[in-house]
Amino acid sequence: MKNELISEILRLKDEKDAVILAHSYQPPEIQDIADHVGDSLQLSLTAASTESSVIVFCGVKFMAETAHILSPDKTVILPELDAGCPLADCIEVPALRSLQKLHPDALTVLYVNSPADVKAESYACCTSANALEVVESAPSDEIIFAPDRNLGTFISRKSDKTFHIWNGACRSHAVADLQDIKARMDEWPDAELLVHPETPPEIWELAHAVLGTGGMIRHVGESSTKRFIIGTEEGMVYRLSTLYPDREFTTGGNIYCYNMKKITLQKILYSLRKLEPVIELDPRTRKKAYAAVARMTEITG
Ligand code: 13P
Repeated sequence: MKNELISEILRLKDEKDAVILAHSYQPPEIQDIADHVGDSLQLSLTAASTESSVIVFCGVKFMAETAHILSPDKTVILPELDAGCPLADCIEVPALRSLQKLHPDALTVLYVNSPADVKAESYACCTSANALEVVESAPSDEIIFAPDRNLGTFISRKSDKTFHIWNGACRSHAVADLQDIKARMDEWPDAELLVHPETPPEIWELAHAVLGTGGMIRHVGESSTKRFIIGTEEGMVYRLSTLYPDREFTTGGNIYCYNMKKITLQKILYSLRKLEPVIELDPRTRKKAYAAVARMTEITG
């Protein structure tokens, strides 16, 4: 049954000239059928450069919106429109404008985990892979960083600039279970602990490295360590295990994103059959948001 589902998805993908992009937090069966699995930056860049006319985005809504912002001529499909991101939803335009009024000399660097209309109000977007680079290249010594307070704090400690940090957080990473991480470290004392900067500072203090998901992949490739505790969404353990079958990985912190798991093979099949649900934005918002997203891809693309 599952094999038939997969064959039909692959057949329709060719018929509809579609490409399937999947974030590394997606369930294993979706990572397995995707054309590209990556972090939010890589997927944005792939969306911008793909020749396929349809992009099936297996991730959460802000990621599919970013693909649409960068590739307005393509049909961008999110197989489950309800796959949202509470972090992205914790910031709105009027509140950001109020903060900008309080700090008129600051430039706003906005994590891509944010709504398109808020992106439209910012100087540049960033991901966890390039946040420091984007902040350092912004022509101001004063930065408003939003909406993730943990990533903002992490970057502010590496920069000499003055930061005004939005008090938002990822519901999954911000409550990473410290006791679980410590228990894994006791079980695997030889392992390296890699954690995402969306986790709180007390977790970074235990870690060998604080990295976005793309950075974790590179780090493992360059390390001679055999075992790793992964302090980010559990899908990353599958991703790393497929890339490095000679190493061992375990989760750390019980970090689970239920929105990422709303995408299923059945929903992908439906999306390819009907070419819906399509991600669409008001063209004016899209154009303004494009400037901020494009600035990010120009800086690091
Ligand atoms: P990456 O940019 O590391 O892929 O992280 C995406 C994300 O949403 C983390 O919660």
